[in-house]
Amino acid sequence: MPGLPATFRAYVVDKRGERFERGLRTLTPGDLPEGEVEIRVDWSSVNFKDGLAATSDGKVARAYPLVPGIDLAGAVIRSTHPSFTIGTEVIAHGYDLGVSRHGGFAEYARVPADWVVPLPTGLSARDAMALGTAGFTAAQAVVELETRGLEPAGRPVLVTGATGGVGSTAIGILAELGYEVWAVTGKPDEEPWLRSLGVAGFLTREEASASGKPLESERWAAAIDAVGAATLPYILRTLRRDGAVAACGNASGPALVTTVLPFILRGVTILGIDSAYLAIAKRRRIWQRLAGDLRPRGLGERVTEVTLDTLEPALDAIVIGQARGRTIVRVGGDAG
Ligand SMILES: NC(=O)c1ccc[n+]([C@@H]2O[C@H](COP(=O)([O-])OP(=O)(O)OC[C@H]3O[C@@H](n4cnc5c(N)ncnc54)[C@H](OP(=O)(O)O)[C@@H]3O)[C@@H](O)[C@H]2O)c1
Repeated sequence: MPGLPATFRAYVVDKRGERFERGLRTLTPGDLPEGEVEIRVDWSSVNFKDGLAATSDGKVARAYPLVPGIDLAGAVIRSTHPSFTIGTEVIAHGYDLGVSRHGGFAEYARVPADWVVPLPTGLSARDAMALGTAGFTAAQAVVELETRGLEPAGRPVLVTGATGGVGSTAIGILAELGYEVWAVTGKPDEEPWLRSLGVAGFLTREEASASGKPLESERWAAAIDAVGAATLPYILRTLRRDGAVAACGNASGPALVTTVLPFILRGVTILGIDSAYLAIAKRRRIWQRLAGDLRPRGLGERVTEVTLDTLEPALDAIVIGQARGRTIVRVGGDAG
């Protein structure tokens, strides 16, 4: 397999003073940061964080110029680390990728070996990016809830932000594992799709927020929350005794206003989920499970495919809550 070409294409964001620019640029190998593994990027994906990185005031990019893209999958073209031989298919996501060092929206990437995950048998690079950080985060949430003793035989599990990347993957994973899954969605016309993923019942966003009460009837064994704001306090008020919520996101806002009563009268727990800096050994184990028992129902459905040339509208859509399912970026991979 040939090494890095003299030039290659990348989607770049740049800011000098007040002037913000974004678009396709030509890079050279010297533009890539240090790292033991060089990867030909076949696929990437669009995450909420990438949308923010591509805005002038998104407060995600920590270096300019920057190739956004917190996810990438492709083949190793050069490696100075014995674990990764040329041609090995790999995934890299999170850590500083697409935030303070160049990420997946480029034809080539160079990354530290201890950020690299071998592509598990049973998943294609395209599948891996149909999951991406959003899907991985859903799997991490399920794993954390399992460590708290969650089992399919109990009460239902609630998933919020249901039509989003984290939510829809969480539903697909939980349904395949045999859980009764309920969903909060603001998009009632998407209920048939969500039912096909395994949702048994729905709450509107309003039902899963307003109340003056500090506690309500115990309803959920656990929850996976991508929304935050008024939704997380609703979950805390309605979790069963010793239940837990995996707090993954803040699609509706970062503030959390609650009382201590769910914690001191019902022993409920908030599990913080940070996929970006999860230790690599745990990350590799979760990817193995994503190719096995955590493979979500409907993987690859509702995937919109874009290229580096057609990426920008998808970045803008995810920031304003208009994304449907997952968007993957065909960088060098074969069309799906
Ligand atoms: N902790 C981590 O490591 C990690 C990793 C990935 C993502 N995240 C975070 O998780 C969140 C979701 O990410 P994602 O990739 O799933 O994003 P996404 O695809 O844009 O989905 C977010 C979903 O949340 C719901 N939503 C959007 N705006 C809302 C609002 N104002 N009020 C209530 N619900 C709203 C929508 O679902 P419905 O219309 O179905 O309600 C939307 O589809 C983001 O905050 C992201 O930053 C965190």
